[in-house]
This record gives sequence, C-alpha cells and structure tokens, in this order.
Amino acid sequence: MSKLQPDTILEALRTVNDPDLNRDLVSLNMIKDIKIHDNDVLVVVELTTPACPLKDKIKDDCIDAIKSHFPSVGKITIEMTAKVRANLDERKNTILPGVKNTIAVASGKGGVGKSTVAVNISVALAKLGAKVGLIDADIYGPSIPLMLGIKEKPRVFQDVQTAKMLPLENFGIKVISIGFLIEDDAPVIWRGPMASGAIKQFMSDVHWDELDYLIFDLPPGTGDIQLTLVQTIPLTGAVVVTTPQDVSLIDVRKAIRMFQRVNVPILGIVENMSYFIAPDTKKKYDIFGSGGGSKLASELSLPLLGAIPINPNIRIGGDDGKPIVFGEPDSDESLKILEISKNLAAQISINTLSVKTPKIDISLGEN
Ligand SMILES: Nc1ncnc2c1ncn2[C@@H]1O[C@H](COP(=O)(O)OP(=O)(O)OP(=O)(O)O)[C@@H](O)[C@H]1O
Ligand SMILES: [Mg+2]
Repeated sequence: MSKLQPDTILEALRTVNDPDLNRDLVSLNMIKDIKIHDNDVLVVVELTTPACPLKDKIKDDCIDAIKSHFPSVGKITIEMTAKVRANLDERKNTILPGVKNTIAVASGKGGVGKSTVAVNISVALAKLGAKVGLIDADIYGPSIPLMLGIKEKPRVFQDVQTAKMLPLENFGIKVISIGFLIEDDAPVIWRGPMASGAIKQFMSDVHWDELDYLIFDLPPGTGDIQLTLVQTIPLTGAVVVTTPQDVSLIDVRKAIRMFQRVNVPILGIVENMSYFIAPDTKKKYDIFGSGGGSKLASELSLPLLGAIPINPNIRIGGDDGKPIVFGEPDSDESLKILEISKNLAAQISINTLSVKTPKIDISLGEN
C-alpha cells in the first residue's frame, strides 16, 4: 500500500470523475490543495460552478476514493470551492471583459415565461454563490424592473477614461433595463436600429465589472434584438423556454434554429407552466398538455433543464417584485427552479470544457 502523501492522494483522486464533464478531477485541474497532518487529510476541490448539481456526490466520491486507497487514513476533510471558467473569446473580452459567460433566455412565442425564468434563474444562481448580471433585452416591453421591484435610476460611474452606467442591484444580482431609463407608463416606441443600439449599449456602456453569468432576457421570436445580440458577442449559449403545447408549433424550432445557425449552442430547454397541482386535493392537472418539452428535447438531442409548474405564487412574485426563489425558497416551484439553474450551470461548464465551436463570421441576411 502506498504512503499517505500529497502525490499518492492525487493518484487516488484520479479515480474520481466529474460525471457531468466526464473526466477525472485531476486532469480537470480541480484539485487545488492537499494537506496532510498526522493521519488526517484535507483536500481542496475547485468546481467549475458554485451551482454544481453534483457537489455532494463529488465530495462523497473523493472521500470513498481516499478511504479505499488508504484504509487506515484518519479524518478526511474535503473543502468544496468553485471558480467559474471563462468562455474566452476576443470579441467578448473587448466588450465585456470581466464577464465569463453570456446566456440568452429566448422563446418562439410571447408570454411563455421567459422573463419569469430569467429573473428566477438569475436570483437562484446568485443564491448558490455565483456573480450574476441580468440584461432586460426586451426594449419594447421591459418587465424586469417590476419583477425585481426596482424603481431607482442607474447612477453614472466615472472611470479615468470613460463614464459608464452602474447597474442597479436587488436580490444579489446586477440589473439593467430600458425601464430604468424611461418614465413610468411612457410607451416605448423605438425603431429597430435604436433598439439594437440600446442592446449594444447595455453591454458596452454599463459597468458590469466581474460576473460569472450575464443573462439576457430576450423579447419573443427572432427579431432585430436577437440578431444584434448574436452579432455583437459570441454567446456562451441560449436557454429556450416553452410551454408544453408550444412544442408542436414551428416557432420554438425557428428560435432554436436561429441560434444554431449562428453557432450559439442551445444549453437546454425549460418547460414552463408545465402542470398545475391543486392546492386542496394535490391532484395534478396538465393544463397545457404534457411532455412537450421532453419530446422536443429528445427529438432535437438537447438537454431538458427541467419543468416549472403553474402556480399563482410565481405570478404574484413577479407582480410584487419578489421572485419566488427569494420569497418562498422552500416551495416546490423554487426547488424546481434551483434544480434548473444547477443543470444550466453544469451545461455551461460542459460546453466550456468540451467543444470549442468554430468562430464564424456572423451575417444574417436571410431567414
Ligand atoms: N409557472 C408560472 N406559473 C404562473 N404564472 C406564471 C408562470 N410563469 C410565468 N407566469 C406569469 O405569466 C405571465 C407571462 O410571463 P413572462 O412575462 O415571464 O413571459 P415572457 O415570455 O417574458 O413574456 P413576453 O414574451 O411578453 O416577454 C406573467 O404574468 C408571469 O407572472
Ligand atoms: Mg418577457
């Protein structure tokens, strides 16, 4: 049996895989420190996201691996830390230098719950320990200020060279929306090019500082704003929100195809308004049909990140400016959203570490 020392422990840890990334912790460079004191061992593991869905499993597997290689080992302490790895790209680095990942929340149709999902995923990722920003890219119908209960106006941050807008903050996330810049109830009548300009400014003229995830809440469909976004920065990926009955419609597929055409990976599908559990009888009703999201996901070989039920408290949380994952963190709905957020973070880590998609010049003249 080998002696208890850092290099032999490292060898033992080579047998532990990150199941999502499908590689061992050592080759993934996740073991950051090993300390031995008498017969006790301390290992510091650095995950690729604080929202890792397999945190506990990886920790247990490390303990098991050390115990099986060194049966007489004393106390084992596994310290789990996390550092989100950046999606490196020159163009992104120029516009959003401190932002590691950019994620669009999109849909084919309006009103399926994009903004609700974008807000709650953002707050959930922040609760899990990530640095999160949210851009309300719905220039024509911004709903984020209401959903996050933000009424202030952004201040200006003067740096040595430039003046930038400071994002507003609530529930642990940084946010910017056209809604912060216009008067309440003023109709937002923008022509396409102006709206596209606003989206660009939300990236380049806002002081985002360091972020693990910058999430874009998009307007529905595949219009100007979507095109501007994918043409301005190479996104880490897109999340597509659908309701169960939507999936037979061509709209969702069209949205997915648009992202795929410009090499934006689809990180997964979220099925919203999936089912309703009657509060009195606990009976489940499939109001908009069932299984559509998973059918679409398997048909297109995309991950299904999860399903969120219909619950009036989700709408109330949106209307009252208190996202459900914050207002009712222990509810079933919040737990589902938390799970979706972890699955999303895992997909991002998988993408970052695996395929580097070829960089193509994006031009989208046709549909
Ligand atoms: N799972 C849910 N249960 C109950 N209500 C929900 C749920 N998801 C969203 N809603 C409500 O449905 C309405 C539409 O949601 P939301 O604004 O998030 O959709 P959207 O896709 O962003 O719409 P748009 O296309 O107009 O931007 C809101 O009132 C929201 O509170
Ligand atoms: Mg919306």
